[in-house]
Amino acid sequence: MKRVVSDTRSKAIPSASSSQAPAAAWSDPGFSADVISWQKQHGRHALPWQNTRDAYRVWLSEIMLQQTQVAAVIPYYLRFLETFPTVASLAAAPSEDVMAHWSGLGYYSRARNLHKCAQTIVGEYGGVFPSDPELLEQLPGIGRSTAAAISAFSYGTRAAILDGNVKRVFARVFGVERYPGEKAVENELWLRAVALLPESGVEAYTQGLMDLGATLCTRNSPSCQRCPLAHRCIAYATGRTSELPIRKPKKTVPERQTTMLLIVDKDEILLEQRPDKGIWGGLLSLPELAAESASSSAQFDAAMTQAVARFGVATSQEKLSMFTHVFTHFKLHITPYHIALARRVERAGQDQYAWYPLAKMADAPLPAPVKKLLLAVFREPDLLTQ
Ligand code: ADE
Repeated sequence: MKRVVSDTRSKAIPSASSSQAPAAAWSDPGFSADVISWQKQHGRHALPWQNTRDAYRVWLSEIMLQQTQVAAVIPYYLRFLETFPTVASLAAAPSEDVMAHWSGLGYYSRARNLHKCAQTIVGEYGGVFPSDPELLEQLPGIGRSTAAAISAFSYGTRAAILDGNVKRVFARVFGVERYPGEKAVENELWLRAVALLPESGVEAYTQGLMDLGATLCTRNSPSCQRCPLAHRCIAYATGRTSELPIRKPKKTVPERQTTMLLIVDKDEILLEQRPDKGIWGGLLSLPELAAESASSSAQFDAAMTQAVARFGVATSQEKLSMFTHVFTHFKLHITPYHIALARRVERAGQDQYAWYPLAKMADAPLPAPVKKLLLAVFREPDLLTQ
């Protein structure tokens, strides 16, 4: 049975194209005809998950192929099927057995979702995978592109795929000048993918797009001479295959500076409790000089003298090597100073400070980079050079 899957979701999402072209304007039967005839002549036809309409096998292969290359998948796929030949056998298996058969393939959430999905197919669908991609997409581990591939290969449904390889092919052929991971660009690519679906032969077309992306239209040094789409490829015509698709824009991570004080009195170091909110909330750390105090060297010296004088009388001050700690949202450049005290003074109003024995530092609730610094300075100087 052939079904046409309407694209209700993508119609609701604004197009990224400046022209706001209706999806129909992207229809081009020549595109799919070129892909299909190339696939029939030059594509892959003997992969272990081909030449079957068994949705269980197709689904298993598509999940394994989500983040893993064909050559790595093949032995896992064959072993998996030997142990779990049907969706019912997989659903009934202990999760440790499923995980053991996935071990080495990586991205283990795929295996957990696979198991859950098998149980849903057995429990809710009587052991038969639905043919509707919109139903498939609601199952664990199945996104829109995977749902379309399963449905096309198992049931011949006219549903569009758009995995990473296909995005690359489209970005080059259509000269997409924006990063395809951007939501608006991706939405537009989905519209194109749907508009380009052939009236018939969706299996060969889908496999052809996958084969093109994996074998000719590779990220580095694509084989454009052999590509059936070269005559219509904007990247090829303009010599931009190495620039398209546009790479993910690098996030500019904000950078901050801080000065950390290693104020040491005999065998103890001064630590400060961090406020509950903010980075390293609630942990002990080193006292810091406010970043503003580093705006001039005279100001810095004054701030340093004042900060140290709160705790005692210094005999020496040594600047240590600066290092950088990278958080998810910013980089922190840390300049540590080692200050030895001749005499400690205790004052009121310093509740958040504590003198901590250097010998117990390894067990102190310190942020990892601070602990590493202290161990390097006081215990394992070799770590400083790592
Ligand atoms: N990558 C994703 N699905 C695939 C398939 N069916 N064949 C080859 N590579 C793939």
